[in-house]
Amino acid sequence: MSGNTFGGRVAFVTGGGSGIGRATSIRIAKGGGLVAVVDRNLDGANGTVDLIGLAGGRAVAIEADATDEGSVNAAVATTAATFGAPPVILVANASSGGGDDPLSTSVETWDRVMVGALRSQFVSARAVLPGMIAAGHGAIVCVSTVNALMGIGDDAYSAAKAGVVNFAKNLAVRYGQHGIRANVVCPGTVQTPAWTRRLERTPDIFHRLSTWYPVGRVAQPEDIAAAICFLASDDAAFVSGAVLPVDGGLTAGMWRMGRDLQGD
Ligand SMILES: NC(=O)c1ccc[n+]([C@@H]2O[C@H](COP(=O)([O-])OP(=O)(O)OC[C@H]3O[C@@H](n4cnc5c(N)ncnc54)[C@H](O)[C@@H]3O)[C@@H](O)[C@H]2O)c1
Repeated sequence: MSGNTFGGRVAFVTGGGSGIGRATSIRIAKGGGLVAVVDRNLDGANGTVDLIGLAGGRAVAIEADATDEGSVNAAVATTAATFGAPPVILVANASSGGGDDPLSTSVETWDRVMVGALRSQFVSARAVLPGMIAAGHGAIVCVSTVNALMGIGDDAYSAAKAGVVNFAKNLAVRYGQHGIRANVVCPGTVQTPAWTRRLERTPDIFHRLSTWYPVGRVAQPEDIAAAICFLASDDAAFVSGAVLPVDGGLTAGMWRMGRDLQGD
């Protein structure tokens, strides 16, 4: 990535105030992009903007709820007013989780997770698409998860994130004619503040999870940001509708079964 990868392009990063969204915002700004760091937590968004400023980049913090159409539309308008052009890069990253065993998941929890993880993507895409169509180009990167690809629990969250995969594919086929690409990243376990509560319950959780990853570790936010920025950049000019696991090989296969097949 060069300092000019995103040369003056305007990017809209939802959930940019923490974790993967923060690392992605910083990387886009270092690549010359102008970044709207959009988060319902304004302190977090301001923290990201401060880090970008220290790195010599340009960004604006905008408080918005990615599930709320009016809020996101206003954020897109603020972005365009700040940078003089609407976003041509969307990183649809904001999400909430929850909803494990269906027998202990209420309908209300299920619906709340669908709104947080799936509606947020729809609302964000809807808000930026008109500007991208007018510009004649755009890159959308939707952040899903390996949970979308297999059954490892968090059933409501996983189902919503599987919906994100299909939504991005439809964006890709529907808007490709306008020069718009849409792709998905499916991260494995990433050390971010999203894990704070589970970490309190299980202090060695990252160590335990590391043993599942062929590369022998869990991810850092920068690992995911690098993949997102590749898909958002012109290096991926012919990549659209792709679903990229960024998971250290987790979903590549079942090694333990492979050993059993060999009778080891
Ligand atoms: N951390 C992981 O292990 C992991 C693994 C796979 C996928 N993901 C996905 O990566 C994305 C980012 O996760 P993270 O780990 O960086 O989380 P995080 O908790 O560190 O950051 C998420 C940010 O999104 C913001 N946010 C949440 N809902 C929002 C909304 N409705 N409107 C605006 N802002 C909102 C939060 O305020 C927070 O700043 C999510 O889509 C998550 O599902 C994370």
